[in-house]
Amino acid sequence: MIKIANISEIPIGGSKVVMHDEMPVALFNINGKIIAWDNRCPHRGASLADGNINNDTVQCKYHLWEFDFKRACSTANENIKVKKFKISVIKNDIFIC
Ligand code: FES
Repeated sequence: MIKIANISEIPIGGSKVVMHDEMPVALFNINGKIIAWDNRCPHRGASLADGNINNDTVQCKYHLWEFDFKRACSTANENIKVKKFKISVIKNDIFIC
């Protein structure tokens, strides 16, 4: 496991981008639960971390596609997936597995 951030760096309802294996990883804090996704929007690669974050979804600011945090896919088409990363949170440090 590799430490990628501390939970204190990501406010609730906020996000942070870290690099892992030369890939931008978006970390979202959704009511205290950390979700790690490929930061590149499946549509045209815009930053999902810069999107409009709600409790259940993030909406990409470029063309307003919306993605569901629980299912890691588009809310309009579940075949459009977001790559997710397995993480662990230990004593407020976030590790990517
Ligand atoms: S790049 Fe995200 S909706 Fe188009």
